Amino acid sequence: MKQFIQDLPKVELHLHIEGTLEPELMFELAARNNIEIPFNSFAEVKDAYDFHNLQSFLDIYYQGANVLITEQDFFDLTWAYLLRCKNDNVVHTEVFFDPQTHTDRGISFDTVVNGIDKALTKAAEEFNISSQLIMCFLRHLDEESAFITLEQALAHKDKIIAVGLDSSENGNPASKFERVFEKSLSEGFLTVAHAGEEGPASSIRDALELLKITRIDHGVRCSDDDHFVEELAKLRTPLTVCPLSNIKLKVFEEMSEHNIVELLRKGVCVTINSDDPAYFGGYMTDNFMAVGEAHMMTKVEIAQFTFNAIEASFISELEKKRLF
Ligand code: ADE
Ligand code: ZN
Repeated sequence: MKQFIQDLPKVELHLHIEGTLEPELMFELAARNNIEIPFNSFAEVKDAYDFHNLQSFLDIYYQGANVLITEQDFFDLTWAYLLRCKNDNVVHTEVFFDPQTHTDRGISFDTVVNGIDKALTKAAEEFNISSQLIMCFLRHLDEESAFITLEQALAHKDKIIAVGLDSSENGNPASKFERVFEKSLSEGFLTVAHAGEEGPASSIRDALELLKITRIDHGVRCSDDDHFVEELAKLRTPLTVCPLSNIKLKVFEEMSEHNIVELLRKGVCVTINSDDPAYFGGYMTDNFMAVGEAHMMTKVEIAQFTFNAIEASFISELEKKRLF
């Protein structure tokens, strides 16, 4: 099974590029840019990555991003992730980035997007890994900040396929971003949103109805409402599930209790993704392995996660044929 999972072609649809910042690169960039970090050793970093919920993770994650300053830093970060993709046989990836985390520190939008884009282009040429870029609005910030960010993205429409919504779900309802998503759609961006990670099934419904999203990031709390699960299955609404993330952030106590396999068997279009792999203990193969070890599954079922991800991806029908 291990070899089967390692060799399986994979498609990643839920990956925050800032969440791929490994401690080694964090130390390297801190030294390069003369930035102070609150850790003296890798052991101290490991100790700090002991989260009890989403917010306790986000506080450390935003702090980590402070070492990213130049276009080269964003390139190096993205390139390191793409080397992991090559190793895990990821053939297509749709990458989130959080511009406000950087522009609020005085880093220009162009620096961020150009660094990431150059690495993605190089990986397409050298590794035949295709990709898309998704710009996320931070839901703990206000609507005005999201509109300013959207304005900055307009000059980069050729590089950004969709907008998303991440950060603290509780206390920041989808309704806060209804107008900015409407404007994003009218500008030709596709839309996705984190929902039902910590928030209830109604938070997923709100994201679908108010933000007109085409897929849900996480969405695992849909199981609180059986009727809703049936609806999601019928409509083949995709859920980009992140198993190791859900365990680290205590959405489920144990991988054996995770609902991803149950949802798969009910016909929901669930996919496996790594979210913030440097913080949650693993990239794509690790996530597949963790699910495969905790749940009895056939090879056909495991491969179905990749078929679902191709179906849910933002690649053209022509490109999909290359992947099938
Ligand atoms: N930003 C990075 N990872 C996230 C997650 N799992 N949920 C919400 N926002 C995030
Ligand atoms: Zn996420």
